[in-house]
Amino acid sequence: MVSDMTDKNTSSKLWGGRFTESTDAFVEAFTASIDFDQRLYRYDIAGSIAHASMLAHAGIITTDECSTIVAGLGDILAEIERGDFTWSVELEDIHMNIEARLIESIGETGKKLHTGRSRNDQVATDLRLYLRDEIDGLCMALTRLQTALVDIAAREIDTIMPGFTHLQVAMPVSFGHHMLAWEAMLERDHQRLLDCRKRVNVMPLGAAALAGTSFPIDRAYTARLLDFDSPAGNSLDAVSDRDFVIEFCAAAALIMMHLSRFSEELVLWSSAQFDFIELPDRFCTGSSIMPQKKNPDVPELVRGKSGRVTGHLVSLLMLMKSQPLAYNKDNQEDKEPLFDTVDTLHGSLRVFGDMMPTVTVKRATMATAATQGFSTATDLADYLVRKGIAFRDAHEIVGRAVRHGVETGKDLAAMTLEELQDFSELISDDVFTVLTLEGSMAARNHLGGTAPAQVNDAITAARERLGKR
Ligand code: ARG
Repeated sequence: MVSDMTDKNTSSKLWGGRFTESTDAFVEAFTASIDFDQRLYRYDIAGSIAHASMLAHAGIITTDECSTIVAGLGDILAEIERGDFTWSVELEDIHMNIEARLIESIGETGKKLHTGRSRNDQVATDLRLYLRDEIDGLCMALTRLQTALVDIAAREIDTIMPGFTHLQVAMPVSFGHHMLAWEAMLERDHQRLLDCRKRVNVMPLGAAALAGTSFPIDRAYTARLLDFDSPAGNSLDAVSDRDFVIEFCAAAALIMMHLSRFSEELVLWSSAQFDFIELPDRFCTGSSIMPQKKNPDVPELVRGKSGRVTGHLVSLLMLMKSQPLAYNKDNQEDKEPLFDTVDTLHGSLRVFGDMMPTVTVKRATMATAATQGFSTATDLADYLVRKGIAFRDAHEIVGRAVRHGVETGKDLAAMTLEELQDFSELISDDVFTVLTLEGSMAARNHLGGTAPAQVNDAITAARERLGKR
């Protein structure tokens, strides 16, 4: 009677042996991950091919059996890519969908593939292979955007814009220098991804369910086949921790944070109030009610999307928190936040890479804006220091000159020599060269400064670095 029930109700499950009743229909749907983990199919098949090859290499299955399995998996891969594969919720996840299809198509030999393996080391392996590939793609997208920024910087070395602190005009800076600031942030993001990749590229296979396997497996062999740097050193850790996913999402959240700041500047700069840049129509949208509107939707959306990526990071931290060793089903929840993070990042980097080279830089408006707000006041103070006044006193003197400028509506450079001499007798007509925007910019001539000569060096260094990628 019991075996009757087993045959009738649980025969489609690869783990049905010990069960006497079939899974509740809702529970089946609730616990299944096939809707989203089918994205891992290529890595699942690559992992299975490597595993089967290792089993043959170690004499655990025959080479004939291995060839049959590998050919069967190749056919399944083609079937999936043609869109002919029928995914089954009953078979729960990507691993069992593929394995069941293998058994269906090659018969008894297919049942040997899972020797010395568990879905626990299998899923962790799939995820690492997937993430390794995505990191490589994201690094390429970063390089593309970084290169676009360096190209803009090279074109705009001498373009003067007001640099801001507190969003108040501070000092004139080269627009090229400003672009290189964004490139520098993205370069650190790039380094973070490369560093994260090292910890992703470790192979869980062989850990099996949690403790390893009683078969004489050769993990170094499988790791070589899959291009992993090494097999994971502890089986319990290998199947359970998802810190590599969290680490990646932390790096992703930082990239999106940087892009959100960059976006904010593009939004501000393209407003009528700033008018520093123009985004081409193809990166903007209109309003359904206000005919005059041209909205910077792309940067706004990227700015908004930074929130969801940070959300995914936090949800993954919470997912992992307090989980006892080793694998727990909780970890099935790692995939959707990871996949969405990867997609969001790919989309945001791509659209920025497409958009940045098309941005029109309004040099004249920027230069005019830099003449407002007393952006060369610090240059005047430095000038007085060079004439022998202590910096604090010079600061005070220039502060009074600025107050006079505010009252009379005049920039420092627009005042007469006599007017300026009211504030200090040490001021002579050589002051006007330091009060120009060009003079101010060129004076900051040291490593990391905004002087065009320095920006030029920074561009050369960035190009050399990016050229190696
Ligand atoms: N779908 C599962 C996941 O994503 C695969 C591993 C299941 N392992 C298990 N023992 N139930 O985590």
